[in-house]
Amino acid sequence: QLKAVIFDLDGVITDTAEYHFIAWKQLAEELGITFDRAFNEQLKGVSRMESLERILALGSQADRYTMAEKEALAHKKNEHYKQLIARMTPDDLLPGILDLLRELKRQNIKIGLASASKNAFTVIERLQIGAYFDTIVDAAKVKNSKPHPEIFLTAAEQLGVHPSTCIGVEDAQAGVAAIKAANMFAIGVGDKEALKEADYIVETTADLTYDAIVRAFYRE
Ligand code: BG6
Ligand code: MG
Repeated sequence: QLKAVIFDLDGVITDTAEYHFIAWKQLAEELGITFDRAFNEQLKGVSRMESLERILALGSQADRYTMAEKEALAHKKNEHYKQLIARMTPDDLLPGILDLLRELKRQNIKIGLASASKNAFTVIERLQIGAYFDTIVDAAKVKNSKPHPEIFLTAAEQLGVHPSTCIGVEDAQAGVAAIKAANMFAIGVGDKEALKEADYIVETTADLTYDAIVRAFYRE
């Protein structure tokens, strides 16, 4: 029986995945590294430092910087990212998300957030949706990053529900892998090929209706 839906934030609830992409792309270009959207799929859901490491590796620059320099590069990206999210409003919720949150509440399904971002609380605040969440687990609360299941398992534990009664919603390969490793039903939002490990895939959040996700969950 479905007891909870645990959402990823960036790229699922709002399009901050695009802001992360823009901010990383600018930093990469300053370092003389070019990367495209296909490569960006590998950065989604991945922590700030790990993302930087992957970008540096792409440009064969992994050994060029000291730890302190890497911290400074990651900081620079984050300053740019913070500028981009500072202007967000509730209008930046992706299509269908608010209706889904409302309907889940109405149906007494618990709602959790599992975000790898240290900016998660700021984004939730800007969107003014904090009241919908029964628990918020962010990067500060877990040791292992996605694809490790810890963040989704922690959310389920805090909600007091068994993983098998949860749906996880993700736009990232690493995120879908984390949901599956947690033994939850995985819904992918986005590219069919990139998210093929998911149990159910929708192209956009507009297709993420309460009826559709419940039907998908019970079909399994
Ligand atoms: C994830 C994003 O939600 O958070 C990643 O998908 C991002 O792109 C990660 O790198 C960490 O975010 P932040 O805000 O802590 O740099
Ligand atoms: Mg995401």
